[in-house]
Amino acid sequence: MRLKDKVAIITGAGAGIGKSIAEIFASEGAKVIVATRRATNGQPVADGIVSSGGSAIFVKCDVSSEEEVKALVEKAIQEYGRIDVLVNNAGVNFVKEFEGVKPKDWDRVINTDLRGTYLCSWYCIPHMLKQGKGNIVNITTVHTLACLPGAAPYDAAKWAVVGLTKSLAVEFASRNIRVNALSPGLIDTQIWDDIKAAAPNLNECLGYWKSNIPAGRVGTPQEIAYSAVFLASDEASYITGANILVDGGMTSQLISQEPFKSKNLEGNSRD
Ligand SMILES: NC(=O)c1ccc[n+]([C@@H]2O[C@H](COP(=O)([O-])OP(=O)(O)OC[C@H]3O[C@@H](n4cnc5c(N)ncnc54)[C@H](O)[C@@H]3O)[C@@H](O)[C@H]2O)c1
Repeated sequence: MRLKDKVAIITGAGAGIGKSIAEIFASEGAKVIVATRRATNGQPVADGIVSSGGSAIFVKCDVSSEEEVKALVEKAIQEYGRIDVLVNNAGVNFVKEFEGVKPKDWDRVINTDLRGTYLCSWYCIPHMLKQGKGNIVNITTVHTLACLPGAAPYDAAKWAVVGLTKSLAVEFASRNIRVNALSPGLIDTQIWDDIKAAAPNLNECLGYWKSNIPAGRVGTPQEIAYSAVFLASDEASYITGANILVDGGMTSQLISQEPFKSKNLEGNSRD
């Protein structure tokens, strides 16, 4: 077991990627704190882990609220006495043309994705320093390499999280706290269901995404969770300040292939 007895807080763990991280961390021996806004999805995740023989508790927490984050960290310490790993996963995915982005939209995305990551880190780090060791994994996105039109608050928040990741990594490296970002490509969670539901033609939608992802498919939440296990484990002991892309090759591809067979281009063939 790669995370045996490590105490891990996972935010936004009621659904999608966070749920999978909580479940797979528990199967790797971690004691998991399932932290999310709603008991209706967070409590069943914790109950499911316990009924499969793992260790987990649910704590209701909106990561944008300082009071709730403080209470979350206090509860983790009261229950387990330490915090080894913090996974800042809670995030709002957001797509809207910039002219329609109202200040309240901006605040909601920034407060969840960026302020939430700051608050959770700020409350956990003193405990990690006291323990002499700690580990933070920030779930960011492939948008931290290149952006999509119509995602300004999300892009701004996640780029800032990568900046925060690198800043904390260098500040705390000598004190044995590692901080890394993990950037998923398109993953099969609610957002993928929403994309498919919005498409006028499902086959066209699947073909479009297939051409944009060299692996030819969307990723699974489990594929992100196993990468988080690696970063949180001692196997990654020399990795800090990294932004690891888990995207089926999406960000390595300049543009998708032409929908016709292109001519071989061989440089100076006309000379
Ligand atoms: N799914 C993807 O394709 C994808 C791609 C790149 C990055 N991500 C990132 O991965 C993370 C998880 O995404 P997902 O697709 O699993 O999302 P999701 O919407 O399926 O699940 C997110 C979870 O976070 C919770 N949450 C939202 N706001 C919260 C808050 N303020 N406080 C506490 N909990 C909150 C939700 O209730 C939900 O349980 C996000 O940070 C997202 O930006 C997802």
